[in-house]
Amino acid sequence: MSSSTPPVSPGQAVIQPNDLEAFWLPYTSNRAFKRAPRLVTSAEGTRYLSADGRGILDGTSGLWCCNAGHARTPIVSAIQAQAQKLDFAPPFQFSHPQAFALASRVAALAPGDLDHVFFTNSGSESVETALKIALGFHNVTGQGGRQRLIGRERGYHGVGFGGTAVGGMVANRKIFGTLLAGVDHLPTTYNRAEQAFTVGEPEWGGHLANDLERLVALHDASTIAAVIVEPMGGSTGVLPSPKGYLQRLRDICDQYGILLIFDEVITGFGRLGASFAAERYGVVPDMITFAKGITSGTVPMGGVIVRKHIYDAFMKGPDYAVELFHGYTYSAHPLACAAALATLDLYREERLFERSRELEPILATAIHALRGEPNVVDIRSVGLAAAVELAPIPGAPGQRGYDAVAHAFDHAGVLLRAAGDSIITAPPLIIGEMEIGEIAEGLKSAVRSVA
Ligand SMILES: Cc1ncc(COP(=O)(O)O)c(C=O)c1O
Repeated sequence: MSSSTPPVSPGQAVIQPNDLEAFWLPYTSNRAFKRAPRLVTSAEGTRYLSADGRGILDGTSGLWCCNAGHARTPIVSAIQAQAQKLDFAPPFQFSHPQAFALASRVAALAPGDLDHVFFTNSGSESVETALKIALGFHNVTGQGGRQRLIGRERGYHGVGFGGTAVGGMVANRKIFGTLLAGVDHLPTTYNRAEQAFTVGEPEWGGHLANDLERLVALHDASTIAAVIVEPMGGSTGVLPSPKGYLQRLRDICDQYGILLIFDEVITGFGRLGASFAAERYGVVPDMITFAKGITSGTVPMGGVIVRKHIYDAFMKGPDYAVELFHGYTYSAHPLACAAALATLDLYREERLFERSRELEPILATAIHALRGEPNVVDIRSVGLAAAVELAPIPGAPGQRGYDAVAHAFDHAGVLLRAAGDSIITAPPLIIGEMEIGEIAEGLKSAVRSVA
C-alpha cells in the first residue's frame, strides 16, 4: 500500500479513488478502467445492478458463463447447503459422492463414447489437461514421438502455456517466449470477403480443414499428437465453423491417428442450442474441454470429457499406482459439484438448451438488422451468440469497440463485450424476446455513439 493510500476498513461504504489501485484487473485496460470504473454490485435473472444503482441487462451471460441467469434459487440453495455439509474433500486418493454423480451426468450429455470426465477449475486448466492427456496417451500407447500440438489462427484456448501456445491471437502470445514452441496452426476459418453477413454457419470455408494435410506433409503424422479447435471462435468475435469443416477435420485426424479436441468452454451447455457443439454438428471429437456454463458461472469449475479408449489406455500397471500424474487441489470441489448438479437440473427442467435453439433465429434477426449502421463491416451469428464488427479507427484498432461497449454500459444499460472492434452479445439462455430487442437497441446506440 502506498503511503498516500488511506486504510480501507472492511464494509466501508464509499469507494475512494485510491481503493482501486491494488487490484490488477485481468484482460483489462487498468488505467482507463480506474479513471471510470464499471462496477456491478448484485445480479438477478438477466440483470445486473451497477454501483450507481442502474439496472444493466446482461448481454454476455457475465463472460459467456451465466447460461441459466443470475442468482437462481436452486443453484444458490445447493451451494449454501453443500458449504454447510462438506466444504472440502481431498481430491487425490479420496473423493466425495457428488463428484461421481456429476461426472456421470456430464458424460451422459456428451455424444458417443465420451465417457470419462477429469475435473478442473477453469477453461484454461481444462485445455492444459486435455493437451497433457493427448501427449500422455500417445506415450502410453507407444507413440511417444507424437509431441506436436496444432491449434488455429485466431483461436483462444485460455492462458496456460499450452493454451497460449496453441492459441492464435498475437497479443496473447508475442511476449511469452520460448515455452510456446513445438506447435503449429491451421489457418483461420474467417474470411470476410467470402462470409460477410452470414447468418449461422458460412457456406464457404469447409475446405480450410484440408490444411491439416499440409501440416501432416510438413511435420509427418508420427510427430503430431492433437489438433484443438473451438467449434465457434468466441474470443475473436463469434466465428462459426464453416459447413463441413469439423467433419473434415475429424476425417483427417482419423486417417492419421491424430487426436481431435473440441474446446467447448464457450459452446458447451446450450450456447449453440445443444449440450455441446459436437452434438449440433454430429461430430464426435476425442476430447471436449468445458467450463463456464457447467455451474452457470457461480463457482469456478471446468473439465475434460475423454473417450473411452483414451481413458482405458492409461488404466495399466499395478493397481496401487497413479495412472496420470496430473490434477488440481480443487478438482471436483464439493461446492462446484453441488452448483453444477443444480445447474444441470435447471437446464433440463427449464429446457434451456431447446430454448436457446428456439431463440437463435430471433437473436439473429434482431442483430442482423443492424446491417447498414455506421461502420458496420460484418455481422455474424450462431446459436445464442452474435457479433457486430466495426471498421477500426485508423491507427487505433480496438478503440471503437472499446468505446462502444463503454457507451452501452454507461448510457444504454446493456452489458456487451468487445473483441477488438467486434461487439459481442451472448445473453443468458433465459433471455426474453423483448430483452433481445433491448440488447439490439443498446447495440445500435453503442454503434452510433462511435460513428
Ligand atoms: C474457448 C475457450 N477456451 C478456454 C478459455 C479459458 O477459460 P478460463 O478463462 O476459464 O480459463 C476460454 C475463455 O473464454 C475460451 O473461450
